[in-house]
Amino acid sequence: MDITVGGLVTELKRQFDAAGLPQPQLDARTLVGHLLDISLTDLVLDPGRPVVAGDVERVRLAAERRCRHEPVHRIIGHRSFFGLDLALSQGTLEPRPDTETLVNAALPHARAIADKSGTCRIIDLGTGSGAICLALLAEVETATGLGTDISLQALQTAKDNAGRNGLAERFHTACGSWFEAVEGEFDLIVSNPPYIRSADIGKLDPEVRDFDPIAALDGGADGLEAYRAIAADAGKHLSAGGHILVETGFDQHEAVMDLFQGSGFVCTGRFKDLGGNDRVLSFAKKGKP
Ligand SMILES: C[S@@+](CC[C@H](N)C(=O)[O-])C[C@H]1O[C@@H](n2cnc3c(N)ncnc32)[C@H](O)[C@@H]1O
Repeated sequence: MDITVGGLVTELKRQFDAAGLPQPQLDARTLVGHLLDISLTDLVLDPGRPVVAGDVERVRLAAERRCRHEPVHRIIGHRSFFGLDLALSQGTLEPRPDTETLVNAALPHARAIADKSGTCRIIDLGTGSGAICLALLAEVETATGLGTDISLQALQTAKDNAGRNGLAERFHTACGSWFEAVEGEFDLIVSNPPYIRSADIGKLDPEVRDFDPIAALDGGADGLEAYRAIAADAGKHLSAGGHILVETGFDQHEAVMDLFQGSGFVCTGRFKDLGGNDRVLSFAKKGKP
């Protein structure tokens, strides 16, 4: 009997249910839709469409990976972030919807600086897939961006993503720890650094613990190591009138604020994510407008 797209979705949903995955229907539709290049609407409206044997095999292999907790978008190899299509690799964190909070908080600053001075020089520390920086560059046409990371593989993926989204001319990369490989000043410093306490890594969902790179997660014993390093050197690299925005863990706002305030910055904004959790802080140099 012919296998149909609707039959495949049902087969995968049952498998995912049995594996205890939290969103079996959504995962089944997303995998079948992406792998067979069928829109979600067509999947629903035309479930009787037949699937050739090779495609059935591809979908079943992907389903096995999902049952081993590999995230859907890692299996597909790319995902959408702030309207951009971003490739993922083993060296990159899968960008999270909550990180769009940081982009939304940074955008008014980027636009105002670009309107006033003709450009906005952005640095994204720990750029991963390039998500934050590339989203800002896509929105502010005159801005330029530098993405830094300690992972060469992440930087290669970020560069590929810049090309994939037509932003390669305005995006460059530097490999090193935080500001180590960086010279000069920037109008906007943005970062979503690793911020999970080392002892908590083992308690994360397998989708995160086993598939996001450890360097993207581990924030040291108290989860604050990256903020300490960034706060210590940010003053040297922030232009007059510039802004720093960092993503934080839901319970880290007070501690991160203390760190930056102790390094000569004043907090200019606090932002919550889609779930209502504390997620982003913005800072400017003390005593500057
Ligand atoms: C939480 S991920 C964020 C990735 C991306 N910015 C995003 O929001 O999706 C943190 C990133 O910081 C990088 N990283 C970790 N330690 C670093 C260091 N000492 N210097 C620079 N980057 C670092 C990791 O490789 C990873 O790409």
